[in-house]
Amino acid sequence: MHYELEGKVALITGGAGGIGAATCRIMAESGARIVVADIATDRAEAVAADLRASGHEAIALTLDLGSEDSIRAMYRATEARYGRLDIVDNNAALLTADQAQRDGDIEHMRTDDWDAAFAVNTRGTMISCREALRLMTPARRGVIINTASNLALQGNVIQAAYSASKAAVIQMTRAIATSHGKLGIRCNAVLPGLTGTPSALAHLPAELRETVEEETLTPGLGAPEDIAHLVAFLASDAARYITGQAMAADGGTSVHVPGYARLNRFFNGVAA
Ligand SMILES: NC(=O)c1ccc[n+]([C@@H]2O[C@H](COP(=O)([O-])OP(=O)(O)OC[C@H]3O[C@@H](n4cnc5c(N)ncnc54)[C@H](O)[C@@H]3O)[C@@H](O)[C@H]2O)c1
Repeated sequence: MHYELEGKVALITGGAGGIGAATCRIMAESGARIVVADIATDRAEAVAADLRASGHEAIALTLDLGSEDSIRAMYRATEARYGRLDIVDNNAALLTADQAQRDGDIEHMRTDDWDAAFAVNTRGTMISCREALRLMTPARRGVIINTASNLALQGNVIQAAYSASKAAVIQMTRAIATSHGKLGIRCNAVLPGLTGTPSALAHLPAELRETVEEETLTPGLGAPEDIAHLVAFLASDAARYITGQAMAADGGTSVHVPGYARLNRFFNGVAA
C-alpha cells in the first residue's frame, strides 16, 4: 500500500515499538524521510538502520517524552537535519508492565501512578504538539496524528489513569484542529483497540484477552500494521478533508453494546 508521502519528513515518537516501527516502515515505503524517536535508543537505531538497509532515508533520535528538554531537543535535531517537518505521529506512551499493573480503579489509585501516566501520555504529547506547531505554523502546512486508545471512550475496571490520560489527548486533538485548521495544519487522533504488540500482550491476563476477543467484531485482533495504515492514510493528502477526528481501529470493539456480539448466535444463528 502506497500513501504518496514522497519527500515528506515524518517524525514518529515511540518509533521503536510495535505500532511505531510498523508506522515508520509503511511511511518510509510511501516515500517519507523518517525520524525514529524513542527512549530506547538502541532499538530506535535498529529500526532506522533497517529502513536505510532497504533504501529508505531514516535517522534515530533519543527521546524521553516525560522531559520537556528532551522533546525540544528532538525537534531542534529534526529541523537541523531536514530543515522541514511535515508529519508528527505522537505514538509513544508510558506502557511499562509496572505501570500497567498498578493502574487500576480510582479507589485504589496511587497519586504518583496517575501523575506518571499524565506526565508522559498527556503532558508529553501536548509539549510535542506545541513544538510541532511552532515549526509547522510558519510553513502553513503539517499533519499531527495523536495516538489515544479505544479505552478513552468507555468505562473500564482497569487502567483508569491511562484511559483518562488518553481521553485528554482526544480533546487536545480537537483543540489543535480548531485553532490551526485554517493555517493548513490537520490534527487527528487514532484509537487502537487491543493490538498484537509485545507490550500489549506480555502481561495480559487470559480472561481479559478472551473478553476483548469476544467483543471484537472482526474475526481476529489487530496487528501493528492495522494501526500504521490508518496513521499513514491520515498523514497523506488523501485525508486533506479530515481533521479533529478520533478514529478507532479496534475491530468495532467500541461501537456496540457489550455482550451483544455473542447474542448474534442466539438471535440470528451466526456462529462466532
Ligand atoms: N498495542 C495496543 O493494544 C494498544 C491499544 C491502544 C492504544 N495503544 C497505543 O499505541 C501506542 C503504541 O503502543 P505499542 O503497543 O506499539 O507499544 P510499544 O510498547 O510496542 O511501543 C511504545 C514505544 O514507546 C517507547 N516509549 C515509552 N516511553 C517513552 C518515553 N517516555 N519517551 C519516548 N518513548 C517512549 C517505548 O520504548 C516503545 O518503543 C501507545 O500510545 C499506546 O498507548 C496501543
